[in-house]
Amino acid sequence: MEMQKPVKVAMIGVGAISGIYLQNITKTFREVELTGVCDLILERAQKGVDYVTGEIEKGAQVTAPKVYKDMYEAFEDPEVEVILNLTRPYEHYEVTKQALLHGKHVYSEKPLAVDMDEAGELVDLAEKCGLHLGGAPDTFMGAGIQTARRMIDGGMIGQVVGANCAMVCHGHESWHPDPEFYYKRGGGPMMDMGPYYMTALVQLLGEAEGVMGMTKKSFNQRLITSDPHCGETIDVDVDTYLTGNIRFSSGAIAQVFTTFDVYYPQGGSARFEVYGTEGTLIVPDPNTFGGPVMLLRPEDMAAAPKTDPALMRRGLPDIYAGYKEVPLMYDYCENSRGLGLADMCKGLRLGRDYRANVQQQYHVLEILTSFTRSCEEGKYIPLKTKYSRTAPMKNNPMHGILDD
Ligand SMILES: NC(=O)c1ccc[n+]([C@@H]2O[C@H](COP(=O)([O-])OP(=O)(O)OC[C@H]3O[C@@H](n4cnc5c(N)ncnc54)[C@H](O)[C@@H]3O)[C@@H](O)[C@H]2O)c1
Repeated sequence: MEMQKPVKVAMIGVGAISGIYLQNITKTFREVELTGVCDLILERAQKGVDYVTGEIEKGAQVTAPKVYKDMYEAFEDPEVEVILNLTRPYEHYEVTKQALLHGKHVYSEKPLAVDMDEAGELVDLAEKCGLHLGGAPDTFMGAGIQTARRMIDGGMIGQVVGANCAMVCHGHESWHPDPEFYYKRGGGPMMDMGPYYMTALVQLLGEAEGVMGMTKKSFNQRLITSDPHCGETIDVDVDTYLTGNIRFSSGAIAQVFTTFDVYYPQGGSARFEVYGTEGTLIVPDPNTFGGPVMLLRPEDMAAAPKTDPALMRRGLPDIYAGYKEVPLMYDYCENSRGLGLADMCKGLRLGRDYRANVQQQYHVLEILTSFTRSCEEGKYIPLKTKYSRTAPMKNNPMHGILDD
């Protein structure tokens, strides 16, 4: 393990998700250095800089970033090596494309682009320019999914036969300050939350082979209840209730459900189970970095008490009877967004592969976009993109420094 010279990064888009990136780049990932930030709304960029300056005053040993007047100023800054694209999904393509054309590597928030044509163009352009492209999600690199992967790879549930995952909620217009993009091209629950689930699925089950979907929108308009747009309505342009199946090259089959149309208890929106010939694994919410990972083996089922007495009194079965919680075996169980960026930066310095790479983002995008396509065309969609899993995480003695 070696501390490398930090890689200089410029952030484009200083909206809702930028806070956690600013925090983690400033406090945790010491091999990433923020040269500057830029937003169409100048006050947002200034707020980002003010946050870092405040942390420097409290003792953070980083350089204060500058405010770029627009993205082109960042692209033309000779110091900058990587562009961190935190704009809205429909803006990813143009920002990433322009950054590549200016000779910069790019790490983009999910999804890679809003459709396969745009994404294919970016993949080709990066290759032609000899530049690196990587992107979110990076939650799969956290302790939860990595522990689940190790359990599966270690044969704890035998051969994987299938998986079942769901993300069920009533949309983001009750809390996000600018929720419109969730209902426009590139939005919807599959493009927004699906990346976490599909990335975790391919990390756990390997390459996907094809998709069948049934999708719709249940509401033509959504009412914003968060400030500052409270009371305004959004016209919904995308499907918001998507169900379907994925066949994996291994022969496993997953059923998937993502929706913004259903009321569900807070904190219960994520469901993720992987089934094997010798057991079942409950995978943690893939939009988080931590646990719990829960394992059910047939021998534990036989030994488990039939029901918890408290539940029995209410006439409810204990659905977790026989499950054992697996201790997390890796670092990064807190919100570590930026971990994928830090790993990519380390990869750039050392010439090694990095985990949140574009091959994964591209494969995941093909899965995401195939549900609606399958529904529209009324057929099974065989996938064209290829995928092989990136290396599992390695624990290092120092938090925030990635492996060599
Ligand atoms: N909000 C979340 O909880 C969350 C979580 C994980 C990932 N993401 C992803 O992060 C990305 C951003 O989401 P958000 O919620 O922060 O959106 P947001 O609308 O709050 O912020 C996006 C910002 O990008 C700026 N922007 C757009 N084009 C620009 C340009 N050309 N130059 C400079 N600035 C530009 C906008 O002015 C805006 O401030 C999306 O891809 C989303 O999928 C969001």
